[in-house]
Amino acid sequence: MSRVLVTGGAGFIGSFVVDQLRAAGHEAVIFDVRESPHHARGEVPTVIGDVLDYESVCEAALGCDAIAHLAAAADVGEVAKDPETAERLNSRGTFNVLEAAREQGVGRVIYASTIWVYSEAEGSVDEDVPLHAPAHLYTATKLAGELYCRSYSELFGVDTTILRFGIPYGPRARPAAVVPSFVARALAGEPLSIAGSGEQTRRFVYVEDLAEGVVRALAPVAANRTYNLVGSQDVSIREIAHTVRDLVGDVDVVHTEGRAGDFNGGAEISGTRAARELGWHPETEFREGVSRYIAWHRRQEALPPRRAHEPIAERVRSLGSNAGIAVAAGVAGALAALLSRWDVVTDPVSFLGAMVLLGVPVALIAGVDWARDRARAGLVILAMLVGVVFQALTPQTRDIVQDVLHHRIMLALVVLAAVSALAAGRAWRADREGQRDAAG
Ligand SMILES: NC(=O)c1ccc[n+]([C@@H]2O[C@H](COP(=O)([O-])OP(=O)(O)OC[C@H]3O[C@@H](n4cnc5c(N)ncnc54)[C@H](O)[C@@H]3O)[C@@H](O)[C@H]2O)c1
Repeated sequence: MSRVLVTGGAGFIGSFVVDQLRAAGHEAVIFDVRESPHHARGEVPTVIGDVLDYESVCEAALGCDAIAHLAAAADVGEVAKDPETAERLNSRGTFNVLEAAREQGVGRVIYASTIWVYSEAEGSVDEDVPLHAPAHLYTATKLAGELYCRSYSELFGVDTTILRFGIPYGPRARPAAVVPSFVARALAGEPLSIAGSGEQTRRFVYVEDLAEGVVRALAPVAANRTYNLVGSQDVSIREIAHTVRDLVGDVDVVHTEGRAGDFNGGAEISGTRAARELGWHPETEFREGVSRYIAWHRRQEALPPRRAHEPIAERVRSLGSNAGIAVAAGVAGALAALLSRWDVVTDPVSFLGAMVLLGVPVALIAGVDWARDRARAGLVILAMLVGVVFQALTPQTRDIVQDVLHHRIMLALVVLAAVSALAAGRAWRADREGQRDAAG
């Protein structure tokens, strides 16, 4: 089992990489600027961080056997709209990941590249074909990442694996991507529009197959190798439109102008090396993958919409849970101070021991990950100290002790009820969020 940090693990492909890693028995840790909308809260260890913040990448990389680096500006439209941000995120972000891997001695960096690097190529291409300078800035930034991988491998001995992803499709895909947008339009009874003639083909790959390929790339044989992870069939845009039309219902297909710099899809990209060395075979037929996407999309549509005020509700909920943790920790601190007045635990060492003894259950209930969740860990310690000070300043300690002893059964029941409520609430929330998102 390996511990794998997945940057961009809350995204479309990254979230499936996380799932496939876990299914294969690995420990996946998400590193992303947001919580995963595809996993129940708390289901997957998550570090909220920015790949542009070197310190946080470095800290998250500590103790990891590998990093699957997927965080990027992946939407070519967004790259064109904000080139500066995209360039920093894709190039500097990759640099930071490699440097963190070097510093922390991470065994492998798996880099998510793209078959767009073959944009200018023609005929049949494999991983050894010399690449031309790309037309699109997105491709240039992804290529920069590939070059950094090679440099880190040669200069510093950081093992890297470059995976050139085909065009992914499937559940959790961005609505603007071609399959989701065709499906949405078809479901709305609107015509499907094709940029250009529709004859251009693309090597689509079903996202769960792709994610499985990322997991296979952890194999030792993949160190310092490059692989194309592409589907087994070339699919033309016109075929996509017809597949969607067959699966959803009869709608018109119309043609519009092509976009500048787009992947022309002319080259036939070979996935032979991944099959031979990694034993990876994309199993899902295009039609089957589209029908799985449609089923997922329908399930998403059937779910109640997220309420507009949910972010505030989320914040209030987290405020409430933090307040609960602070109160529990405060009470634990006061109890520790009380204990320190008993004969058996009067010395400072015993007092510290009592603090730790009582702090551990509080931290466990609060789900604090001491190494990563510093804010919560700090809150527990601070609240315990406040509890100590409060208790020390309270003159009627003896009365409080008497009261506590007098009502001990009732207090024990209250504590038991509170712990059960906390556990039940957590399980219910996990179940509800799981139902909402597990559809993908
Ligand atoms: N989607 C495609 O068509 C495609 C094709 C080939 C290769 N790729 C590559 O695969 C990877 C994943 O693509 P995707 O489609 O899942 O993208 P996505 O946009 O769904 O996911 C990217 C994730 O990165 C996170 N992220 C963004 N900025 C970040 C930052 N500064 N720090 C940490 N996390 C940050 C986002 O929150 C998001 O969860 C990318 O590297 C992309 O270049 C994508």
